Amino acid sequence: MLKFERVTKYYGEIKAVEEVSFELLEGEMFGLAGPNGSGKSTLLKIMLGLIRPTEGQILVNGVQLKDKDWREFRGIIGYMPERVSFYDNLTGIETLELFASIKGGSLNNIKDIIQRLLTSDVLARKVGTYSKGMRQRLNLAQALLNDPSLLVLDEPTSGLDPIGTRLLYDILDAVRQRKKLTVVLSSHMLAEVEEKVNRVGIMKSGILKAVGTLDELYRGLNLPLKLIIIVTEGGSQGEVLWEILKNEGAVNITYGSGQLTAELPVENKLKMLASILEQKDQFVDFTLRQPSLEEVFFGIH
Ligand SMILES: Nc1ncnc2c1ncn2[C@@H]1O[C@H](COP(=O)(O)OP(=O)(O)OP(=O)(O)O)[C@@H](O)[C@H]1O
Ligand SMILES: [Mg+2]
Repeated sequence: MLKFERVTKYYGEIKAVEEVSFELLEGEMFGLAGPNGSGKSTLLKIMLGLIRPTEGQILVNGVQLKDKDWREFRGIIGYMPERVSFYDNLTGIETLELFASIKGGSLNNIKDIIQRLLTSDVLARKVGTYSKGMRQRLNLAQALLNDPSLLVLDEPTSGLDPIGTRLLYDILDAVRQRKKLTVVLSSHMLAEVEEKVNRVGIMKSGILKAVGTLDELYRGLNLPLKLIIIVTEGGSQGEVLWEILKNEGAVNITYGSGQLTAELPVENKLKMLASILEQKDQFVDFTLRQPSLEEVFFGIH
């Protein structure tokens, strides 16, 4: 849908984004993860045509957009910026009406969503009195006003409590069930990103270090699976299983308090499972855990 080709952005001397190339697929939920200052917001703004890349280009459905086309393209985009400016003296409803008149769209389109995000009492209040989370909820509502096909969310859950966070993802799910919606969101909440998105891009110091599904990323880094086996009491104290694990290529094997832990190359998984299952009387339970996005993140240099 959107293709970044060697996109680079300098702010004076500061290189905010360097030679980023990747493709956003239609209908996917894509997460951009990375630490503060790694270039996530810059990349999103370039995607929206709000800032121009110093070098490189963006292709929309294979075509490089001219200025006039950007305006049209923006009509199908919803954008929830990191820091939104509202007029403090307008009420929530007046704010949404103002946004609808500027960007196109109507409050009627998303009446249900607005009601889920903010109570009518809060909507009638001046935005200057809003809490951080209320502002963020209003920010989401304004991004959905034009019934977008591409939704760009910059740190959408920052400032939201767990209820607000869940509501945001519920709303995204509901919209995505109704229509084909592509979502790009940035976040440093790695656990949250991991759970919600189809693919992730990892930014570090302006460079897109890796792109893919979590599975592709940890396999690409050769990160091991973690294995925990609860050993049967009064048996061989894990010795039988220890030998099997060693033969199956497991490393960092430890035993303590009736528990055997080890790390295992992902390609040995099925063979190891088959061998372990031949010794069913040696254990009462086991867990095999794939690396988290956080482990992937810290595994990338
Ligand atoms: N308008 C600007 N003028 C100068 N430098 C900028 C500007 N905007 C961003 N930068 C710099 O570009 C780099 C990338 O910033 P960016 O805001 O894209 O990071 P980010 O990943 O979104 O960070 P955060 O997680 O803190 O939101 C940083 O070094 C930042 O200081
Ligand atoms: Mg940012």
